[in-house]
Amino acid sequence: KRIPIDPVTALKGQYPHFMLKEIHEQPEAIADTIWSLATLDPPALYFDDLGPAADRLADIERVVLIGMGTSLHAAMVGQRYIEAFAGIPADADNASEFRYREPVLDDRTLVISVSQSGETVDVLEAMAVARQAGALQVTVCNTAGAQTTRVADGTVYTRAGLERGVASTKCFTTAVVALYLLALRIAQAKGRLSDRELALHLHDLAQLPRAVSEVLRQQDLVRKRAVSLAAAQHVLFLGRGLAFPVAMEGALKLKEVSYIHAEGYAAGEMKHGPIALIEPSFPTVAIATRHALRTKMISNIEQIQARGGPVTGVVTEGDAELTALCDAVLTVPAVSSWLEPVAAVIPLQLLAYDVAVHRGCDVDQPRNLAKTVTVE
Ligand code: AGP
Repeated sequence: KRIPIDPVTALKGQYPHFMLKEIHEQPEAIADTIWSLATLDPPALYFDDLGPAADRLADIERVVLIGMGTSLHAAMVGQRYIEAFAGIPADADNASEFRYREPVLDDRTLVISVSQSGETVDVLEAMAVARQAGALQVTVCNTAGAQTTRVADGTVYTRAGLERGVASTKCFTTAVVALYLLALRIAQAKGRLSDRELALHLHDLAQLPRAVSEVLRQQDLVRKRAVSLAAAQHVLFLGRGLAFPVAMEGALKLKEVSYIHAEGYAAGEMKHGPIALIEPSFPTVAIATRHALRTKMISNIEQIQARGGPVTGVVTEGDAELTALCDAVLTVPAVSSWLEPVAAVIPLQLLAYDVAVHRGCDVDQPRNLAKTVTVE
């Protein structure tokens, strides 16, 4: 008697949920994205889908990055890459806010939209505003031929493959990597990136897939921590610099799949209000990896613990001081400072997943959510 295999189950392979499968696809998705846009030997960038935008990058004087949800968090990381590598002002904004800003744009402004589906209505509306103002547009997208790729002057495709889980995971890390390379491409167009600097960046990027694989091997450690967080009503995620968007992303993941209220906050803000929330029943996740303004994060952690707040630290492996200080740690391998956001988000994706499973939530299709928000 034939036992029909449910096609959806077959698609999940050995994983119980698409979200977990997609978290574990990240080393390959990141590698595919990098090496679809660059080669290591010789060190070179290949942006084949920039179209007319390719020749106008040299004249760009400022950049505005826009997106929603997880894609906005990737855009926030991209903002820092562009300022650091291309040396031009950049800002990142929520697309649904951008479109009401009356933004001052011109043909020397590059608007970079980040959207894995390329169909998010808030992003498309914001792109229409940018088009009206005459800005050059490039979109970072994971879906061939999506609407954003038809509106923008150029496209940078990520190679994450189809993402089925409503909570975005591999599309975040591949968008961050694509924005890293796009920032290098803009720097190169503006004569601000030597071949040697490009080679060093590409060498760092080449290490990333293996580093991500290493983090994925510590799922059992994360699962233990998830059990204690699963009972929380509220969780605070803290980060500084490049880790601030990662704190925002970690909070969004937890909210989306486990329905626990979570907030991502710039750690420097603690004294300006949020520290009033701290008490033993209010856990904090603090990203304190070696390049994430670690010393400042140590004082944040001490202030929280002084008020009885439990702290889970995301730390660089081998950091004995922080391992002793925090109530629990999730470790990531040492990677370049620019790539810490990718390494640090992985344990937060696993944490959200494990908490949701522990709470019996529908991980792949959380209540009230759609994979793509195509209506206002
Ligand atoms: C992320 O986990 C959410 N599913 C959601 O915030 C998503 O990132 C947002 O709707 C943007 O989608 P897009 O990348 O397809 O534009």
